Amino acid sequence: MENKSTSPAVQLKGVYKRFGKVVAVQKMDLDFEEGSLVTLLGPSGCGKTTILRMIAGLEAPTEGEIYIKGKRVNDIPIHKRNLGMIFQNYALFPHKTIFDNVAFGLKYRNVAKGEMQAKVTKALEMVRLPGVEGRMPSQLSGGQQQRIAMARAIVIEPDVLLMDEPLSALDENLREEMRREIDNLQQMLGVTTLFVTHDQREALSMSDKIVVMKDGLKQQEGSPEEVYNYPRNHFVSDFLGHSNFFGGVIAGLEDEGVSVKLQDGNEFRVEHPGDWANNAAVELVIRAQKFELTYLDEAPPEPDMNTFDGTIKDRSYMGGEVSYFVELESGTMVHVIGIAKLTPFKKGEKIRLHVAPRHCGLLQKDKAGGDARPAK
Ligand SMILES: Nc1ncnc2c1ncn2[C@@H]1O[C@H](COP(=O)(O)OP(=O)(O)OP(=O)(O)O)[C@@H](O)[C@H]1O
Ligand SMILES: [Mg+2]
Repeated sequence: MENKSTSPAVQLKGVYKRFGKVVAVQKMDLDFEEGSLVTLLGPSGCGKTTILRMIAGLEAPTEGEIYIKGKRVNDIPIHKRNLGMIFQNYALFPHKTIFDNVAFGLKYRNVAKGEMQAKVTKALEMVRLPGVEGRMPSQLSGGQQQRIAMARAIVIEPDVLLMDEPLSALDENLREEMRREIDNLQQMLGVTTLFVTHDQREALSMSDKIVVMKDGLKQQEGSPEEVYNYPRNHFVSDFLGHSNFFGGVIAGLEDEGVSVKLQDGNEFRVEHPGDWANNAAVELVIRAQKFELTYLDEAPPEPDMNTFDGTIKDRSYMGGEVSYFVELESGTMVHVIGIAKLTPFKKGEKIRLHVAPRHCGLLQKDKAGGDARPAK
């Protein structure tokens, strides 16, 4: 007997996909919990769309198994998988009315006319566009068209909703709004959703779980907080935020952490438990947002920080934030992002840079994709 409560909504087991010599996806094991919103996040070409297409049944895996609600679907064709799909470029039928666009999937399911009407009306209400049944897609804005695509996807009450960069054609303000709408709709419907994006902020703000990918390989998966705060390797740390990386060696072991000597001679105290050995090669990771800047004559923001003097070499205003490149006296360049109203520093000014030991992360240098220690 099928036990729904224990089967993940979607499961990939050892999935590979090759296109000739190109390995698009390798050794992919994934579990999506029922009702969750999972994001596949990674740079262009890392295999996100390919995974979505395999789940949809638009591509067959070269190896491995795909399960939907506990049932193996490798040999089940796309129209029997009960999935809702939304893609980047809306893909509405331009010559069909909004009603016919939204009702499309219902027609294939032999839904009676009255019921179809009711379902389309309800789907349009859910995407907050009631009453547009008679219009043509060209009479709606980009954001509205994307909501129609959403209505079309949810009207069939899919087991899984697949969205491939659905917001990338929209401008920044609209994206933000649509992000919230998708989030709300997903929670209201409780439908398991797989969302593909290469936008870190999008992934962090919406997901129950993020799967970070690179070159067809899963790099890390976890809650937004987990992958952001505890990146497992250089790639994840870099991709999910503006990180500074410095090569160094362990130069001292203390109760509360370690001390790391950089190649430039500077020493950082890093608050990390763990079994680091003296002289082990490491990579020190510090997010650009974790530094604090003060003038040379000011007191440090808190006691026991790592403190270095430097010069602002570059400054770019980004609205609420300012991005600085600070050259330390050792010559090392550090990227710092500060809150605009708290950091009035100018190019060429001498400043003092502070970072708390708890905000410094460590990666093992010699191990490819080595484990990171917590960096809050
Ligand atoms: N039909 C195909 N034939 C040959 N190679 C393909 C095919 N589809 C995808 N690929 C290749 O597989 C790799 C993964 O492609 P995919 O479209 O899944 O990436 P993606 O992560 O969705 O990228 P993007 O963010 O640019 O959409 C790429 O190297 C791509 O060139
Ligand atoms: Mg893609």
